[in-house]
Amino acid sequence: DTERTYIMVKPDGVRRGLTGEVIGRIERKGFRIVAMKKMLIPQSLAETHYGEHKGKPFFEGLVRFITSGPVVAMVVEGPGVIAEMRRLMGATRPWEAAPGTIRADFATTVDENIIHGSDGPESAAREIGLFFKPEEILS
Ligand code: CMP
Repeated sequence: DTERTYIMVKPDGVRRGLTGEVIGRIERKGFRIVAMKKMLIPQSLAETHYGEHKGKPFFEGLVRFITSGPVVAMVVEGPGVIAEMRRLMGATRPWEAAPGTIRADFATTVDENIIHGSDGPESAAREIGLFFKPEEILS
């Protein structure tokens, strides 16, 4: 079934010039980018987006990192795109990510792992709503 997911090139990916690499992999796979913008995430949005991690030891560092520079936020559409983007991204811990995935190919640490992708249908709907207005999504 056609689904939508929220994908974001994190500040480390943008700083390292890997935005095009990530976009290229998404497009070559055959998924469609139906919304995209480069933005600085306000502190309050970062805290809401990562709300499920509030109270964890890495929460403050995570918010500081994700607000440390521009991100490229996207809505990506396609059959099974939520799970498939998780597969293309690779495991959160890059040393556990399968070779050929984005994190295995470009990242070394769990804090700076290039890309975010929604982990399920509920978080996809929630995250798309946090970052995009309906009229910004062009399908
Ligand atoms: P992501 O799954 O996109 O969203 C939560 C992020 O927290 C995760 O990516 C990691 O980049 C980051 N993070 C930092 N430290 C940890 C940790 N110890 N365990 C899990 N995630 C972590």
